[in-house]
Amino acid sequence: MSEKDERVAVRGLRDVAAAESKISYVDPNGALYYLGYNIDDLIERVVYEEVAYLLIYKKLPNMQELYNFKTKLVSEMKLPHPIVENIKSVPINCCPMDVLRTQVSHLSEHDPEGKVFSEPANIRRAIRLIAQVPTIVATLYRSLREKPVPAPKKEFDLVQNFLYMLKGTIPNEKAAKVMHRFMTLHIDHGFNASTFAARVTASTNSDMYSAVTSAIGTLKGPLHGGAGEKVMEMLDDMFLDEKVEEYIQGLLDDKKKIMGFGHRIYKTQDPRTKHLRDIVEDFCESFTTSYFYDKCKRIERIVYDRKKIYPNVDFYAAVALDALGIQKEFFPLFFASSRISGWVAHILEQYEDAVLLRPSQKYVGELGRIFVPIEHR
Ligand code: COA
Repeated sequence: MSEKDERVAVRGLRDVAAAESKISYVDPNGALYYLGYNIDDLIERVVYEEVAYLLIYKKLPNMQELYNFKTKLVSEMKLPHPIVENIKSVPINCCPMDVLRTQVSHLSEHDPEGKVFSEPANIRRAIRLIAQVPTIVATLYRSLREKPVPAPKKEFDLVQNFLYMLKGTIPNEKAAKVMHRFMTLHIDHGFNASTFAARVTASTNSDMYSAVTSAIGTLKGPLHGGAGEKVMEMLDDMFLDEKVEEYIQGLLDDKKKIMGFGHRIYKTQDPRTKHLRDIVEDFCESFTTSYFYDKCKRIERIVYDRKKIYPNVDFYAAVALDALGIQKEFFPLFFASSRISGWVAHILEQYEDAVLLRPSQKYVGELGRIFVPIEHR
């Protein structure tokens, strides 16, 4: 029998740097940088498309470049007709993330550049995906309500069009500004699980649609982008019985995770939380939002006192989306509509790195077992 496998398995790949990247830096001390720019210097001073450009081209655009980029994005928002028809045919009780994952996969069949795998073709593909993912989300949102989705308007940017196509009404300035902030805060976050999944797929030189499909499937889980929906479920539950302290202490006594709390990298406050908390505070003129906001602040204090952990991006993001009138099943789709820019930037970086991401394992199973033919078992 062979020797015991002496390798050490790093459970959950904690602290393993799986590759080099220049796209974003998640500083454990509570800061987040996009291409070296601290998000605190960007939020409210940039629009989402500006940061998407930064991730793809590795520099901030000037006015003309941003104008051209925004125009290009809007011109790419329209979906191929069969995709719209597919979306219209999904059952009413579908899981929206499943539909997004499947329709992104279908987009590959309609790629105008087919299988061309050059860098310029992949950049054009990345731009199409940044434009089309929000349209899939808006189309699904509308079709589940049996309403047609309006065509994107040339005079709006991608973010305004996203809201316009989703709601069917022209978004007010506040909603559009909030959505730019929300999407910028969600655009990228180092080697998070979905980005890593996208990079693993891209590392085999598979196509961009396959890599994004892997990412969407990974984002869906409640330990990642699915946490926001669970946060809202929790807040809704408490909305009924109003026993915040008892409810949270009960979950912790039962060793349950509080959704929207904790983080693998940050040892202190998630730097995105304060911006999302500010967004929610701005909506507090609404009774429901201010009610949820007060609950959130109380939950923050209880969880910190007991576990010394902080809210992550999903906690206040859930209330922000609720304030914008979005139903909770769609929260992860808003996450995906923003993170798509990060995913495609990472996929492009992975293609450039040109190395197969293929870890090893520590084998802990048996060896040398005696084979017994089926007729003797
Ligand atoms: N609620 C309660 N306790 C939590 C917690 C949470 N949300 N997140 C972490 N902890 C506790 C764990 O119970 C553990 O405590 P212990 O050492 O006393 O057993 C400790 O903090 C470390 O947790 P662990 O699960 O090992 O951290 P991780 O790095 O593997 O997990 C997350 C990170 C994000 C998966 C985890 O914090 C989590 O499940 N959070 C809830 C889901 C969520 O909000 N996801 C969105 C992430 S952006």
